[in-house]
Amino acid sequence: MFSEKVHVMNHPLVAHKLTILRDKNTSVKDFRELVSEIGMLITYEATRDLPLTTKVVETPLCKAELPTLAGKKFAVVPILRAGLGLVDGVLRMVPSARVGHIGMFRDEETLEPHVYFCKMPKDVADRDIIIVDPMLATGGSADAAITEMKKRGCHNIKLMVLVAAPEGIEHLQKVHPDVDIYVGAVDDHLNEHGYIVPGLGDAGDRIFGTK
Ligand code: URA
Repeated sequence: MFSEKVHVMNHPLVAHKLTILRDKNTSVKDFRELVSEIGMLITYEATRDLPLTTKVVETPLCKAELPTLAGKKFAVVPILRAGLGLVDGVLRMVPSARVGHIGMFRDEETLEPHVYFCKMPKDVADRDIIIVDPMLATGGSADAAITEMKKRGCHNIKLMVLVAAPEGIEHLQKVHPDVDIYVGAVDDHLNEHGYIVPGLGDAGDRIFGTK
């Protein structure tokens, strides 16, 4: 149903951790830790195509030519505020990544998202980008964030989310077919309030304990 650009994690650890995350009785502390851990696991998949080179290393037994990352420049871009919860997990896998931030508000009349804050590394156009947000609901914010990164000259953009609604994925595939989407799980539908069902509630509130 989705294109090959949509990568749904098919892994028992991700499935197990997402189930704990969804439980309304999971504490803020556990929720935060799980978001970070699942972020790490999805980063593993999202970095599968990183280019390698080789270097010579002297092991205790001999000299060997061994694989090493080719040093592709990288930036992780959380969509404020809930996306912040995923930054730590990405950085634990790719510690040298730069971090850009993007904040959006929704126009009350048109319901369109508008960028109110965008602070990126100077050389962002030369970097591979992973935009992170725990929830992909209608796809409006992710669409606006991807559009903003493209305006800034970025051409290798990925999106990482924990839970997606089919509606959000379909929207992004239409407007940004070039973007790879990495998803922990695809849920059933969006309800009339824009929440993903079964989902996990408001990810930002649960990460920051603001409910
Ligand atoms: N944002 C959330 O935090 N949760 C949803 O279910 C949808 C959007």
